[in-house]
Amino acid sequence: MKLNNNTIFDCNLVELSQVSTNSGYTTILENGKNIPFDVKRVYYLYNIPTAEERGGHAHYELEQYIVAISGSFDVILNDGVNKKRVTLNSPNTALHIVPGLWRDLTNFSSESVCLVLASHIYDAKDYIRDYNKFINKKNEIFLS
Ligand code: TYD
Repeated sequence: MKLNNNTIFDCNLVELSQVSTNSGYTTILENGKNIPFDVKRVYYLYNIPTAEERGGHAHYELEQYIVAISGSFDVILNDGVNKKRVTLNSPNTALHIVPGLWRDLTNFSSESVCLVLASHIYDAKDYIRDYNKFINKKNEIFLS
């Protein structure tokens, strides 16, 4: 399968709507309104030991919004040429990750929760978990 030629510069931080009341805040994400893909799956990472890393893979097709709904962590994006570290620490900021990028999640604070909104249901075949394979696939695109 061919890998998407997206780069880390195609990923953005998105401010999410926030309704403020005397009794707290509400943040809303709605298909067709403030998210650029239809959400087919929601999952969250929690109970993550602070020294642990997650991610360590790329996706062929999957697009995601990642939100630190509690605590903080870093996402390191890598397109095979460029790398950038993005710190997520706000429940009303999402990182939009487009397909075709390697990502590592690290530096989890205690009690952090990572919410993921995903464009597809789970498919193990959509993952590249071998970094050398990822680099080779990216090079194929840039050289073609
Ligand atoms: P994995 O994607 O490997 O972890 P990370 O969050 O570090 O990227 O997922 C961890 C485990 O959960 C792995 O055994 C696959 C399983 N899993 C599912 O069964 N369905 C899912 O939607 C996801 C995201 C993971």
